[in-house]
Amino acid sequence: MNSSRNLLVLGATGQIGKLVSRNLRRREANFSVGTRRKVKLAELADQFGSSRFIDLDDPRTFDEALKNITGIFLLTGYTVDMLVQSKALVDAAKRNGIKHIVHLGAFTRDHDAYATVFAWHQMIEAYIRVSGVAWTNLHPNIIMQTFLAQWSLKGAMYSAYTSKAVGFSAGEDIAEAAAAILMEGPEKHNGKDYWFSADVLAPDQVAETLTAATGRKFTAAVVKADGFQNHAIQPGSAYENAYAKGGFEFFEQVEDGRMAYAGSVIDDTKKLLGREPLSLMDWAKLHANELLEAAGYEAQP
Ligand SMILES: NC(=O)c1ccc[n+]([C@@H]2O[C@H](COP(=O)([O-])OP(=O)(O)OC[C@H]3O[C@@H](n4cnc5c(N)ncnc54)[C@H](OP(=O)(O)O)[C@@H]3O)[C@@H](O)[C@H]2O)c1
Repeated sequence: MNSSRNLLVLGATGQIGKLVSRNLRRREANFSVGTRRKVKLAELADQFGSSRFIDLDDPRTFDEALKNITGIFLLTGYTVDMLVQSKALVDAAKRNGIKHIVHLGAFTRDHDAYATVFAWHQMIEAYIRVSGVAWTNLHPNIIMQTFLAQWSLKGAMYSAYTSKAVGFSAGEDIAEAAAAILMEGPEKHNGKDYWFSADVLAPDQVAETLTAATGRKFTAAVVKADGFQNHAIQPGSAYENAYAKGGFEFFEQVEDGRMAYAGSVIDDTKKLLGREPLSLMDWAKLHANELLEAAGYEAQP
């Protein structure tokens, strides 16, 4: 392990960045978390050891935020702005002599993904690959934490936007792998793509798994793919409309077979961490109370 590394984690207030930061803290890494919210700087520094101001929508904030940083965890939110945000950050990384970019992308395979969000991540990855900065790209399939989104399990009914089996990956696995990659650095992980799709399940199997893990009844209903777009942009949702459209396109293309690969188990957790990835059953047991709350059940004592 190289102790001269100094890492910057983006998205530490969100689902995956928070877990990456917790992992780095546990491993006593030298790192800061980046936030666009100045009011959060002190709280995040208390939580993780160090914080820096960076607003992905304002590239003028990048050079200061990247001072003495050697490796970045590049995470963007559920917005088409990821394109310009990532381009500007990669340019700044190059300018500031950053040694390693670890990018959180999506479950894209070769050249057969044409849902917008997937294409955006592929364009960003293509830009990173030619930047001259060492890189590692992470490709998670549907993140299990999505079950906790307000629209996912209302009334204990899992709204599936395709009847086909799709792959899921625990945020915990992706984040622990990202932390290990950041700490082990480009010497080990430059030029590598890693996939996270641990458990492939059809809608009824998801409902059965949630039922078995929580002890309360869950059912599944297959709704039209465009339902995703309507559900995901409810007030309070992290998804902007253009991104939600990408989700709809993904489910539509899984349903008609164009993105059938989304139903594959391809998972590098064991290669990276030396342990099996979490299955949905494992993950749902860990998050049973949150799942019950999302479903409208009273949490178990
Ligand atoms: N959900 C899935 O199933 C899935 C599957 C594959 C890939 N992905 C990818 O995962 C990524 C999203 O990860 P997530 O679920 O962890 O996201 P998230 O929970 O929505 O968190 C987004 C983070 O980005 C920060 N952020 C947003 N805009 C910013 C800006 N202008 N400057 C600085 N920070 C900013 C947010 O900070 P604030 O607190 O300031 O808002 C927050 O910490 C996306 O790229 C998505 O494509 C998701």
